[in-house]
Amino acid sequence: MLSALRPVGERFPLRFAASDENELGNIPDYQFHGFASGTQALAAAILHVRKQRADCTEPEVIIPAYTCPDVVSACVRAKVKPVLVDFAENSTQYDLASLKQRVTDQTIAIIAINFLGIPIDIPELRNVIGSKNIVVIEDSAQYFPRDITKHDWQGDLVTLSFGRGKPLNLFYGGAVLSHSTVSFDTGFDFSENMLSRQKFAFKHRLYNTLMHPGLYFWITQLPGLTIGQTHYQTCSLIESMNSDALAALIERIKEYKTTECNTKVLDWAKAISFNGQLISHRSYKYLRLPFLVDDAAKLEFCESKSEFSKLGLSRMYRKILPEFDDIPLDLGNSKDYPNALSFSRRLFTLPVHGDVKSHHLKKVEQLLKKM
Ligand SMILES: Cc1ncc(COP(=O)(O)O)c(C=O)c1O
Repeated sequence: MLSALRPVGERFPLRFAASDENELGNIPDYQFHGFASGTQALAAAILHVRKQRADCTEPEVIIPAYTCPDVVSACVRAKVKPVLVDFAENSTQYDLASLKQRVTDQTIAIIAINFLGIPIDIPELRNVIGSKNIVVIEDSAQYFPRDITKHDWQGDLVTLSFGRGKPLNLFYGGAVLSHSTVSFDTGFDFSENMLSRQKFAFKHRLYNTLMHPGLYFWITQLPGLTIGQTHYQTCSLIESMNSDALAALIERIKEYKTTECNTKVLDWAKAISFNGQLISHRSYKYLRLPFLVDDAAKLEFCESKSEFSKLGLSRMYRKILPEFDDIPLDLGNSKDYPNALSFSRRLFTLPVHGDVKSHHLKKVEQLLKKM
């Protein structure tokens, strides 16, 4: 088996919208504000909340102990303290008892991270918040609805990413959606990110070529290229979305509406029996299919087999935030987050894109039977 399945990402045509008339202006209940990346959008959202809460001298933002380190970068950029909370057992939801304990009079926001298409139960968060002046920022970097006019977002602010590996991939950009009840402060005056249309088109051609199953294998073999490994990256700039990228995004949203998810993989995942399970959610709108295995050691054994990555199976982060030694903050002791820690060791994901065929699923099944 020489070709390799990429873990995520659909190839797509690049078109630039000719006019500003588009669905971004018709997102029910929300207003769109484009940024140069998802991390910058999240930093801008937190900065907005911080500005509203001038009463807090040491503002804190609650985040889960297991998530993308970019969430920490955004907190650092917005000069707030990230306060970590554990997951509930075998779940991507906050452990509500721990959450209650971590809310203080300095808490300005709770970040509700949609994990690969599994949303946080936001009404449950609002019960914990009660009458406190705490904003829910729904980080939807890993989820984008097929039809944006029929979305199911619920945060006061929603942040999006259109970067590599995201559902609506444009390999560039991010956004804040502000709810109509929130007046999003655009007074920060972010300058526009510079990116020429030619450079954008070149990146697109390169991306589409590299996403080809026959080529992806060779990319994974390049020395020095650590595909799939996550590192902390500093977020220094916050820039608004480039206008050409915005024109491309408008067309990409139209095109994204017409692509279907690979239901064959989903049906297979619901039926497969092995020493683990699909993390189920009623919406079944996954970016990748997340599975939790019973035994972390057996997952490591399977991962050591070369078929694992060739079949597009991948781990996410593999560790929780206090374990990233490149994060320039003391995030405490990983033992304080036992559920997130166990989750990080037992999670693997399977692609759902259109290049996954029945013969791949048969091989995945053989591999999983070894667990
Ligand atoms: C949950 C989450 N938030 C924010 C980001 C940052 O998005 P971007 O890569 O566009 O900066 C990511 C990126 O992977 C993410 O997974």
